[in-house]
Amino acid sequence: MEPQTHISQRTGRANEVGSVTRSKAESKAAYDRMSKWYDLLTGGSEKKFREAGLEKLDAREGEVILELGFGTGHCISAIAKAVGDSGKVYGIDISEGMLGITSEKLAKAGLTERAELTCGDATSLPYPDDFFDAIFMSFTLELFDTPVIPVVLQQCKRVLKDGGRICVVAMSGSTNPGTVMKVYEWAHRNFEKYVDCRPIFVEQALEDASFNILDTTTLSMWGLPVKIVLAVK
Ligand SMILES: C[S@@+](CC[C@H](N)C(=O)[O-])C[C@H]1O[C@@H](n2cnc3c(N)ncnc32)[C@H](O)[C@@H]1O
Repeated sequence: MEPQTHISQRTGRANEVGSVTRSKAESKAAYDRMSKWYDLLTGGSEKKFREAGLEKLDAREGEVILELGFGTGHCISAIAKAVGDSGKVYGIDISEGMLGITSEKLAKAGLTERAELTCGDATSLPYPDDFFDAIFMSFTLELFDTPVIPVVLQQCKRVLKDGGRICVVAMSGSTNPGTVMKVYEWAHRNFEKYVDCRPIFVEQALEDASFNILDTTTLSMWGLPVKIVLAVK
C-alpha cells in the first residue's frame, strides 16, 4: 500500500497521506469487536485531546450539535450537558457496539432526552441541509481514505448552518516527518487492522472544502502531532 499524494486545491502543495485499504464492513466489525474494550485499550490516552477539542468547540446552551464517530460517547455526553434542555446533540457512528455503549452512558447520566444517536456512515449524513450550529469529530476524520475525506467534509458543510462551526481533532501529518511519525506510518501501512488512524493534513482538508479556519492548536501524542482545528462554514 503506497502513500497517496494529496494536492491541495488551495495551495497546490503536494502532501503524502497514507492510504486506507480496510473496507467499511471491516472497519465496522473491528469497532463492534473493540467497543466493550475501547476505553481500556486507549487507556485514557486520547482524553486530553478530546477535552482540548471540546474546549475549542465551546458548545453553548440551546445549540444543535452533531458528532461524527462518537465512539464510547465521552464527547457526546459532555456536549449533551453543555447544550442543556433547550439544545440537542446528534451522533452518528458506523458501529452498533459503540452505539450500545454510548446509549448506556447517556442513560446513566440522565442525558438520553438530549441526544439522538444513529448507526450510519458519515459519508452520507441522514440530516437536513443547514441544520446544525456546530459539528465535532475526534480521531475519526483520519480513518477515511484520502479521496473520501472531502466527501465527509462536503456532507458536514451541507448539514451545517451558514456561519456554523466545525471542530476536528486529528492526528496530523508533517511535510518533514520525524522518526516517530515514520515508524507510526510504517505501522499503519503494515498493521492497518490495529493501527487504523493515520496522520492527515487537517487544515488543508478543511480549506479545500471551503471552510474558513479560525484557530489551530497543535499538541503532541507520543511525539506525534495532534491538531485541534476550529473552522466555520
Ligand atoms: C478512533 S474511534 C474515535 C471515537 C471517539 N470519537 C473518540 O475520540 O474517542 C473512531 C470512531 O469512528 C467510527 N467510524 C468509523 N468509520 C465510520 C464511518 N464511516 N461513519 C461513521 N463512523 C465511523 C468508529 O466506529 C469509531 O467509533
